[in-house]
Amino acid sequence: PLVPMTDFLPRAKKEGFAVGQFNMNNLEFTQAIAEAAKEEQSPFIFGVSEGAMRYMGIEYVVAMAEIAAKQSGVPVALHLDHGSSFEVVMKCIQAGFSSVMFDGSHYPFEENIRLTKEVVKAAHAVGVSVEGELGTIGGVEDDLVVDEASAALAKPEEAIRFWEETKVDALAIAVGTAHGMYKGEPKIHYGIIEEVSKQVEAPIVLHGGSGVPDEAIQKSISLGVGKINVNTENQVAMTNTIREKLNGNPEMIDPRKYLGPGREAIKEVVKGKMRLFGSSNKA
Ligand code: G3H
Ligand code: ZN
Repeated sequence: PLVPMTDFLPRAKKEGFAVGQFNMNNLEFTQAIAEAAKEEQSPFIFGVSEGAMRYMGIEYVVAMAEIAAKQSGVPVALHLDHGSSFEVVMKCIQAGFSSVMFDGSHYPFEENIRLTKEVVKAAHAVGVSVEGELGTIGGVEDDLVVDEASAALAKPEEAIRFWEETKVDALAIAVGTAHGMYKGEPKIHYGIIEEVSKQVEAPIVLHGGSGVPDEAIQKSISLGVGKINVNTENQVAMTNTIREKLNGNPEMIDPRKYLGPGREAIKEVVKGKMRLFGSSNKA
């Protein structure tokens, strides 16, 4: 069955590993992630953005996630990624999501606290875990477009107060990573992670996990990151594989002939991340 993130995140923070959120974009992503988790015996989180939900349909999302959880035999959370309103959060909970993110980072600080608190109250009443966000993460993810000038690092004092007031189960803070691939290397502000994580019980969430060097990931985990989101790297792996197949075989018409290898490519990326995050054999 699908479980809230609270079933595995407290252990992750205590034992010094992180659980991956891998975004679900279609059937092949769903299968690839679930199979990787089964082989690695790792808990994981299916992230579903509002755009991906529109693409697949919410009923397909929940049904596919339920089958994937059953097939993998590991703890799986089905998590709304960057939820933009109370209404979409409620819709997901009603449909069977076990976890939600409310991203109020675009609101003024006090308003973000007030709205997040409402989400936490409603979600916790039915055993659903909640992630909140503070600071603004740059880059592009579906509908969420934040240019460099608008990206803003989280202020540690604000992040601590945000958690004390909202009691979210996972706290996303902007520390220098961005959505999408990086041009250079991301400059992660480790001091922010360290300061916030010392005062806040909930694990820190690192968004924009694609393309972050392994050493930076490991250091972030050692300082209190307990959830890491990865999407773009899987998209790149699948699309590059498919492009190669199609370019090399102009006669190919059976979608399974290129989607299958695309799925395999995602699976390899996810297995690598699970090992890097230390979540393998923690199911
Ligand atoms: O919320 C999803 C993530 O933060 C994914 O970021 O596409 O850069 O890996 P990414
Ligand atoms: Zn994100």
